[in-house]
Amino acid sequence: MAKLGDMISTIRWRNVVLVLVVLTALHFIFIDDTLRNSYSSYNVPDKEHSAVSEPAKVPEGNAPVDVGKTAPELAKPPAPLVAGDSKPADPKPTSATKPADAKPSGGEFYADAGAAAVAGANKETPAEPTAPAAPETTFTPAPFDSGDKDEYLAICVSVKDQYLDLLEWLTHHYHHHNVRRFYLMDDGSTPVLATLNFSSAVDPKAITHRYYHPATRLFKHQQLVAYDECIALFGHKHKWMAFLDADEFLETRGKDTLHGMLKELDSDEKIGALAINWQIHTSSGLLKRPASSRKSFVTCIENYDNPGHDPGFGKENEHIKTIVKTKSYNRPLNPHKFELKDGARTVGENGDNVDRFAWRVPITRDRISVHHFASKSREQFEAKISRGNGMGDPKGWEWWNHTESLPDYKCEEMTKYDP
Ligand SMILES: *[C@@H]1O[C@H](CO)[C@@H](O)[C@H](O)[C@H]1NC(C)=O
Ligand SMILES: *[C@@H]1O[C@H](CO)[C@@H](O)[C@H](O)[C@H]1NC(C)=O
Repeated sequence: MAKLGDMISTIRWRNVVLVLVVLTALHFIFIDDTLRNSYSSYNVPDKEHSAVSEPAKVPEGNAPVDVGKTAPELAKPPAPLVAGDSKPADPKPTSATKPADAKPSGGEFYADAGAAAVAGANKETPAEPTAPAAPETTFTPAPFDSGDKDEYLAICVSVKDQYLDLLEWLTHHYHHHNVRRFYLMDDGSTPVLATLNFSSAVDPKAITHRYYHPATRLFKHQQLVAYDECIALFGHKHKWMAFLDADEFLETRGKDTLHGMLKELDSDEKIGALAINWQIHTSSGLLKRPASSRKSFVTCIENYDNPGHDPGFGKENEHIKTIVKTKSYNRPLNPHKFELKDGARTVGENGDNVDRFAWRVPITRDRISVHHFASKSREQFEAKISRGNGMGDPKGWEWWNHTESLPDYKCEEMTKYDP
C-alpha cells in the first residue's frame, strides 16, 4: 500500500497534463472524415443552397485565396454610407495595417483555444494580409438610447471577410432596429474581423467576436455549427436570437417595430420562432461595388411573390429567415429554419403556422421583410464565389444567370434608411 502511494506521488502530473494536451491537439488535426462529415446530415433545401459552384468558371484573378483579392478590393471602393452626412467620406486606401499590428477594436473577443494551438503549428498562414482602413465618418457611437438595456434581442451572423458589408449591416440593425448585441462568428476571415475597426458603424461594445481558424473548421456546415454555439454560449443572455447573413437586412413596415413584433409573441409558450420571407434583390445592372447596398440595389425578383400565385416548392422568395426564442431553440434544420423544443411552433407575421422545411407560402410582407442582397454587383458576386460560404455550397454563375433573368420590379423600401 505504501509503495503504491509512493508511486502516485512520484508521477509527474505536469507531464501527464502535457501529454493530454498534445493528444487533444492531434485529435483535432487528424480528426477522421466520419466526424468531419457528420454535419452532412443537415438537409439542404434546394438549388439556392445546392452545389452549383463551378471552380473552373471562376474568373482568374479571383483565386480562392483571399489575400490578393481582398486587399485591392477593400482599398478601392468608396466608403459605405454610414453617417447622416450626405457627402460620402473619402476612404483611406493607404496605411494598410497588418493584422498583427492592428489593435483590437474593442468588444469581447473569444479566441478559440484549439484554433490558436493549430495556428501555431500551421506555418502556411497567409503572408501579410492587409486590413482596410476604416472609412471616415462623422458617426458617434451610441447616439441614442435604444431602450434595450438587457439585450432582449441579439443577432448571430456567420461571416467570412465582408468587412465593408458588415459596416452597413451593423449600422442598419443598430440604428434602425435597436439591436444592441451582434455575434460575429468569424469563419476564418483574413484579416481576422476582431482586429478591424467597426466603430464607424456601431459602438464596438455591441459586438462579440468569435473566430474559427480554417484549420479547425471541422464541418462543411460551419454556419450551423456557429448557430449552435451562439445559443450554447450566449443564448441565456437574450430572449430572442436572429440568425441572419451579412447580406440580409430587416425592414419593418407600417407601425411595426422589430421589438414590438417579438414582444407580441413573448408570452405565448407555444410559439418559439418568427419566420420572415426573403425579398431577393438582383444586381440592378451594377458592375462595381456601390457605396451602399440599400441605396443601390433597387430591383427585386417577383417570382412566386404575388398573392394568388401558384405556390412554388422551395423557390426563391418563399425562403424564410428566422428569429428564435432562445429557450425554444433545439437545433438548426438548415440556415432557414430551426427545430424547436416542446413542440413550439414557428409562426409568420400574421401568426400563421410555418410548417414547411425552409419556406413560407403564401409569401406576405405586410409587416416585416428580410431584404436579401443575394447578387449585389458583378464584382461583388465574383468575390462571393471566391469566398465560398458557410454551408460548403456557394452559389455560382448559374444562380446569377437564373435570378438576373427572372421578372423583377422596382423595390426601393431600403433607400428610406439613413444612416
Ligand atoms: C476607429 O475608427 C474611428 C472612427 O472611424 C476612429 O475615430 C478611431 O480612432 C479608430 N480607432 C482605431 C483604434 O483605429
Ligand atoms: C451565364 O450567362 C452567360 C452569358 O449569357 C454565359 O456566358 C455563361 O455561360 C452562363 N453561365 C452559366 C453557369 O450558366
